[in-house]
Amino acid sequence: MTDIERAVAVLRRGGLVAFPTETVYGLGADASNQQAVERIFSVKGRPAHHPLIVHLASADEMPVWSPAAPPLAHRLAEAFWPGPLTILVPAGPPVADAVTGGRPTVGLRVPAHPVALGLLRAFAGGVAAPSANRFGRVSPTCAAHVRDDLGEDVDMVLDGGECAVGVESTIIDCTCDPPQLLRAGGVTVEAITLVTGSTVAPAAGLSRAPGMLDSHYAPRCRVVLAADAQRAETIVEAERARGRRAEVLDPGPDLDAYAHSLYSWLREADARGLAVLVVVPPPDTGLGVAINERLRKAAAPRPEDAGP
Ligand code: TXA
Ligand code: MG
Repeated sequence: MTDIERAVAVLRRGGLVAFPTETVYGLGADASNQQAVERIFSVKGRPAHHPLIVHLASADEMPVWSPAAPPLAHRLAEAFWPGPLTILVPAGPPVADAVTGGRPTVGLRVPAHPVALGLLRAFAGGVAAPSANRFGRVSPTCAAHVRDDLGEDVDMVLDGGECAVGVESTIIDCTCDPPQLLRAGGVTVEAITLVTGSTVAPAAGLSRAPGMLDSHYAPRCRVVLAADAQRAETIVEAERARGRRAEVLDPGPDLDAYAHSLYSWLREADARGLAVLVVVPPPDTGLGVAINERLRKAAAPRPEDAGP
């Protein structure tokens, strides 16, 4: 039996399989199996009203999961799938209620990773999968991250090496006109506009995507953003003077490399026991927009900061 065959057997009996995608690792279950999907929420510790993305083997399956998908959704699928783009469309009957958290929409994505595609083709169904981390933590970009976070709670981990992109997919809501950007990610807004000729509006209201909570993607150490290397050094010195372990993270101008390693760096900061990581953000263009969105969330005030 190959690993893919074993993974398919796990999914068929309602189990959970962590698998690599080009963005981050996903924690997958059969998207038509209500109980299997509910287990994802309990393992992650994720609130039930945070909907999941359904992963498909090919754009040809979109009409099955969303018979009412608008033409724009099909155009985006044709241009960017397989790839790091999640397309929000009206949910069709095969989508288990637990997947959408009772919403009338579903996020669909065809990932560009040979292991993910092999799994999806062999399973011949939709796989609901959030990132394979505990709720509120940094997404996993290699199999070891998944094992560190989820341990024995996942039935099988398919190891496909390091994720190439390193940040999650872009989420576009195609149920409104113009379409809205719910999350910046691996496909840039510039690329979407170029292909569709359509403008992309910002998400209307913070509640649009429940995952848009302010503090999310957070390592345990405190993350402080500094405008440039010099200011980062000043902050680090001040933190050290107060007796805190602090370091600078200044990855430089290569946005692909920055995104690829960002989550690993945040995890390493925790592994080394840093109290404070002072980060120099990338320019806010292209993939930098997605990186900055993650950094702002990592640096956002946390409930425990509120004090007594
Ligand atoms: O790159 C990715 O998208 C990865 C890989 C595994 O595919 N998945 C991922 O899933 O990041 P997750 O669950 O960590 O993030 C999905 C986000 C959540 O913020 C969720 O609230 C939002 O997508 N979302 C999913 N379906 C939605 C819907 N129907 N309406 C609004 N937001 C939705
Ligand atoms: Mg996530």
